[in-house]
Amino acid sequence: MSKVLGLGAGTAGGSAEIVLRLALAATGTEAELVRLADLALTVQSDLDWLWEKLVECDALIVSTPIMSRTMAAGLKLLVDRLLGPNADAAIIEQLVAVRRAGNEPAVPFRVDERVLRPRVAGFLAVGGSLTPQWKTLALPLMHTLTFSMHIAVVDQVVFGGAGTPRSILLDDDALRRATRLGANVASQLGKAHDDVSYLGEPGLCPMCHLSVIELTGADVACATCGCRGTLRDAGRIDWTDRTTSVLSMDEKRAHAAEIQETAGRHRELRPTIAERAAAIPAFAPVTPR
Ligand SMILES: Cc1cc2nc3c(=O)[nH]c(=O)nc-3n(C[C@H](O)[C@H](O)[C@H](O)COP(=O)(O)O)c2cc1C
Repeated sequence: MSKVLGLGAGTAGGSAEIVLRLALAATGTEAELVRLADLALTVQSDLDWLWEKLVECDALIVSTPIMSRTMAAGLKLLVDRLLGPNADAAIIEQLVAVRRAGNEPAVPFRVDERVLRPRVAGFLAVGGSLTPQWKTLALPLMHTLTFSMHIAVVDQVVFGGAGTPRSILLDDDALRRATRLGANVASQLGKAHDDVSYLGEPGLCPMCHLSVIELTGADVACATCGCRGTLRDAGRIDWTDRTTSVLSMDEKRAHAAEIQETAGRHRELRPTIAERAAAIPAFAPVTPR
């Protein structure tokens, strides 16, 4: 039986958790709910426990309240503590190859082959505001929860107008949409990354399907994932390079190679770094205790 993990970053029983519970129920699986507020992400045993939940699941549905236009801080802490190189599919792929060749990789992070299993995801974000400008960065940041592990995002949605406790319950459309998100995620369970169909609203970017854009003259870069293109007349974008998107294995592999090259170069320069560090003015930090 497929394992679906629900990760709730809001208050217990609050609006974000309500839509998450509806989505989980709609997967038709024995889904589990983890409330981020129940975990101490500064405690190693809690981090290890959550890591097991992540690498053992086949689908991840994350729901966050929107805080200052983006996802809740607990989710960013999770990303910083557990993901990045620890969970990067290209890095793990390289290190697993080193291990298969009979050597143990000498790196300061987890080398867990389970990262490479196919997984799908869905994102829910619930804000109090009715206007889009208070929600802009919620879904873009949520992609940091999935791209390292090369998890295919099936569906993603933002709800608004839920600024008082549990008030999402007044929004029938939102409740229906959350249920649909759960069913959408379930419909793609077990598929390999490139076979997964995206079932959310289209958006501009062909990779992450969001529409937050970095514009330099006519050069376009997707702010969420790094897909590149050119702005044409009438605001049309020709997406010219999907291999620069951090959602692609091409970009993850290029990044993994770059990290290794940089580390190799710095290895020889350690004495210079030590010498220059000694010349930096010293400060004893002030602390509250
Ligand atoms: C510190 C803080 C910042 C918030 N910032 C935003 C915001 O930028 N945009 C928005 O739409 N809602 C914002 N809200 C409202 C919450 O997203 C909203 O109340 C949400 O439904 C709470 O979810 P919960 O009850 O599931 O925890 C903010 C709330 C708090 C407490």
